[in-house]
Amino acid sequence: MSVREVIKLPHPTLRKKAHDVHNFDDAFQELVEDMVETMRVEDGVGLAAPQVNQSLRVIVVEYPEDDSKEDAPKKLFVMVNPEIVKRSEETILGIEGCLSVPDIVGEVERSEKVEVRGLNRYGKKMKVRAKGWLARVFQHEIDHLNGVLFVDRATQIWKTSEIEEEVPVE
Ligand code: NI
Repeated sequence: MSVREVIKLPHPTLRKKAHDVHNFDDAFQELVEDMVETMRVEDGVGLAAPQVNQSLRVIVVEYPEDDSKEDAPKKLFVMVNPEIVKRSEETILGIEGCLSVPDIVGEVERSEKVEVRGLNRYGKKMKVRAKGWLARVFQHEIDHLNGVLFVDRATQIWKTSEIEEEVPVE
């Protein structure tokens, strides 16, 4: 495993629509491992392959399934070719940051709940029902696969130095 460089705006790969994954070979498994390690080293709650300059539809997320309890355990999700197949009508505002957009945070409206379907790292079908922050992280990461960044959706933007709140980066 190794830590890969996280690319930043205005790197063009961040703006491309990423390609579907069809090959679950050793090189792909290594990419997944490296993404998990990179996310942990960078202290992120999620990472999408375009952020390590690989235009492929794979995301990693590490966040509690239910964060309403303090000290809820984190869960690692690896999802390939993910698609949001259902979303709640209710939306919530939250402040997001992104490893590829340093020193900026923004308020983004997201669906409160989503159902995501895709494949696991070995190509087997999987489904995740997420709510709250976990749902937000999935929406943020899947946006990355379509070349969309949180700054495109943000209704307000601040410099990190202007706010006191600690904001999860994705
Ligand atoms: Ni991000």
